[in-house]
Formats: sequence, structure tokens, C-alpha cells
Amino acid sequence: DSIIAIVPAAGIGSRMAADKPKQYLQLGQQTILAHTLDVLISHPLISQVVIALHPQDQYFQHLAQAQHPKLVQVIGGGERADSVLAALNMAKTINPSAWALVHDAARPCLCHSDIDKLLKSQSRFPQGAILAAPVRDTMKRSDANGLITDTVERALLWHALTPQYFPIDTLQANLTNALKAKVNITDEASAMEWAGVMPGLVTGRVDNIKVTHPDDLQLAQLFMSQAQ
Ligand code: CTP
Ligand code: MG
Repeated sequence: DSIIAIVPAAGIGSRMAADKPKQYLQLGQQTILAHTLDVLISHPLISQVVIALHPQDQYFQHLAQAQHPKLVQVIGGGERADSVLAALNMAKTINPSAWALVHDAARPCLCHSDIDKLLKSQSRFPQGAILAAPVRDTMKRSDANGLITDTVERALLWHALTPQYFPIDTLQANLTNALKAKVNITDEASAMEWAGVMPGLVTGRVDNIKVTHPDDLQLAQLFMSQAQ
């Protein structure tokens, strides 16, 4: 069965506050987005990569990967979920029975081994699963004044990462309905949860960071140089 990668890359990177969207910043030999696309395009089980771009994007066409035969471009939306939905709508026209592997453009340190681990979890989690990292620190809940009210059981807490892996048809339907209902959707799993599905958790590598703030660039650089 074929797998279509979905890459939301339509953000403007406001927290990075650089002179261009963060996915187009240089990381070693090439841009963040180029690294991310290389990992997905080179995976033998991924048949297409549908990328959602900002309507005023000025940079994508200059990437070497832009003309790759696996690549399909769509225009993204105002929020990450809108961009993912735009790409899913396209993916559905390509193959409605395929599965979507949704991965943030801003996570360039993804490894094939983590993709494979997630794909292999399909038999254990037939409704879909996400990469996630167990929380390491002691977790506190606070009140509105910044006073600790209690300590939250850490063993049950996870950081949600990407890729997130779901059947295209159900993810597309649940995301469409959740957005219509004005639910706050920050990842694919939350759209599935909203629809009553319990996605699986697959432990991913902690170096699969999302480049969000300026200091994340150096960290990604370090992880990138240590990989391979
Ligand atoms: N994204 C998207 N469409 C949007 C917003 C975000 O495709 N309307 C993408 C980003 O390009 C990124 C991923 O979703 O690859 C994760 O979002 P985030 O890290 O929040 O990126 P930005 O929204 O660009 O950054 P910021 O929130 O700091 O502005
Ligand atoms: Mg954002």
C-alpha cells in the first residue's frame, strides 16, 4: 500500500524572527526544508510528497528538490491544520486508500529508522499512531498566579512529535469536521482524538526537534552533524 508524505511548510516563522520563513534558513549544506524533503523523498515506501506552501512563497522554486517527480505542491492556509488539510485534499485525489505521513517542514533531523518504526506500528495501531517522546522532567501544574497547585504524573505524559501516521480518508474527514466545529487542532492526532479515535504512541528520537526559536538552529546543526 502506498504512503503519501504531507509537509506543512506554509508558516512564517514568527518566533524565529529571521529575515525569511525559518524553513528556508541555511543548516549546514542546505536549507532546513531541503533536508526535510531529502529524508522523505529518499524513503522507498513514500510514493509522493505533498507540500503546502505560503501563497506568497518566494523561495521554494529555488530549491533543487522543487522539481522532483515525487513532489506535489499546494497552497497552504492560515493555520497549520488548514495547510495540512489542503495537502490532504490533494493526497485524496492521488490515492484515497493510502496512508498519510504528516511531517513538519521545520523538523529536518528526522531519520529513516524513526519513519520505519512508525510504519511498522501499523499492525499494533490499525487506526494510526504518532512519534512521541516521554517527558523527562518533573511536571507541575500552576494556577493563574504562577503558584504550583500539584505535580502531574509524568509516566503518562508525552511530547507529540511528527511524523504522524493515519489513513488519508479518515484523517481528512476528521480534520475537516474538527475545523468546522472550531476545535483547536495543533496536530493530526488531536483531530483523530476529537473524533473518538485513540492514536498509538511510538517512542521517537529526541533529536527530532522542531526548529522554533533561534537557539534551536545550533542544536539542529549539532544533531545533523552527529547523525549518519
Ligand atoms: N505551518 C503551515 N501553515 C501554517 C502555519 C504553520 O504549514 N499556517 C507549518 C510550518 O511551516 C511548520 C509547521 O507547520 O513547518 C509547524 O509550525 P510552527 O513550528 O508553528 O511554524 P510557524 O508557524 O512557521 O512558526 P511560528 O508559529 O513561530 O510563526
Ligand atoms: Mg506556528
